[in-house]
Amino acid sequence: MNTASEHTDAQPAVTVIGLGEMGFALAGAFLAGGHPTTVWNRTPEKAESLVAKGAERSATVRDAVAASPLVVVSVKGNATARAVLESSGDALSGRSVLNLTDGTSAEARAVAEWVTGQGARYLHGQIMTIAPGIGAAETVIFYGGSDAVFEEFQPTLRLLGGRGTLISADAGVPALYGMAVHGTMWGALNGFLHAAALLSGAGIEVKRFLDDARPSVEALLGFLPMLADEVDRAEYATPYGALQHHRPSVEDLIRESEARNVDVAFPAYTLGLVNKAVEDGHATDSYSRLIEYFRKR
Ligand SMILES: NC(=O)c1ccc[n+]([C@@H]2O[C@H](COP(=O)([O-])OP(=O)(O)OC[C@H]3O[C@@H](n4cnc5c(N)ncnc54)[C@H](OP(=O)(O)O)[C@@H]3O)[C@@H](O)[C@H]2O)c1
Repeated sequence: MNTASEHTDAQPAVTVIGLGEMGFALAGAFLAGGHPTTVWNRTPEKAESLVAKGAERSATVRDAVAASPLVVVSVKGNATARAVLESSGDALSGRSVLNLTDGTSAEARAVAEWVTGQGARYLHGQIMTIAPGIGAAETVIFYGGSDAVFEEFQPTLRLLGGRGTLISADAGVPALYGMAVHGTMWGALNGFLHAAALLSGAGIEVKRFLDDARPSVEALLGFLPMLADEVDRAEYATPYGALQHHRPSVEDLIRESEARNVDVAFPAYTLGLVNKAVEDGHATDSYSRLIEYFRKR
């Protein structure tokens, strides 16, 4: 078995800092892929089963960072990521850091700036799955930062997920991508659960509705490229389905919800946006015009 101090060009040694739910899965994937793997965690006992599988446990962050050319960080928050890396002293110089810690884009950029200031290269990754999804062919990870790190460690990164892409030289962009997916998801989930409250209140099985309405629901995704294009061009003219046609449907949804004792806050928010746009003279514009009401003026 390899030890962490040995490494070959084919399988570079990897250090994983942070063995929470996610870091543990990451270290497991590197070990399973045959990489000499060094781990460090604030609570060292969490490393025990990884050590039993061949991982090296470092007593200090400094030793962990010094053990491998690629240093992967997965902790709670980027302030912690930076504080932990700071404790490695000058060991960081010459290393490649892959930070897989979630936070805002500005927080990721701040860690990137500090790490590169220490003479290390920096890549940020936004993992779009939960821990059991690590290693799956369909797992998406958005990367941003050093293209040299992304290219050099491609085979290693593929062990984490089959659909990893470098989307930007800006280390903050992966976080934005992740939030854009989650924001879209929560909007859709809230709309669906509001609808489910209406349906179940009327004694209709929600699963049955989904079977019957599947083509209509699935068609929703098909509208997004058109909306995206209109937003990118700031061109909201449309021959069909303008805001003036959305308004009565949203009003119906609110009246139906009130009649069925279902909370109206979610559709009322939508109606508020539509009304503002119509009052501002945009009644014949596409739904995408509402982007202007999400932007703070
Ligand atoms: N879990 C998921 O499914 C998932 C999915 C996508 C992204 N992520 C992201 O992955 C990152 C890690 O998440 P997780 O789920 O693994 O979290 P977690 O299970 O709560 O573990 C948190 C990790 O951070 C460490 N930590 C917290 N505060 C620390 C401090 N002050 N100094 C040093 N270490 C500290 C913990 O060490 P101790 O063990 O000593 O407490 C532990 O290793 C987060 O940014 C999370 O958003 C997680």
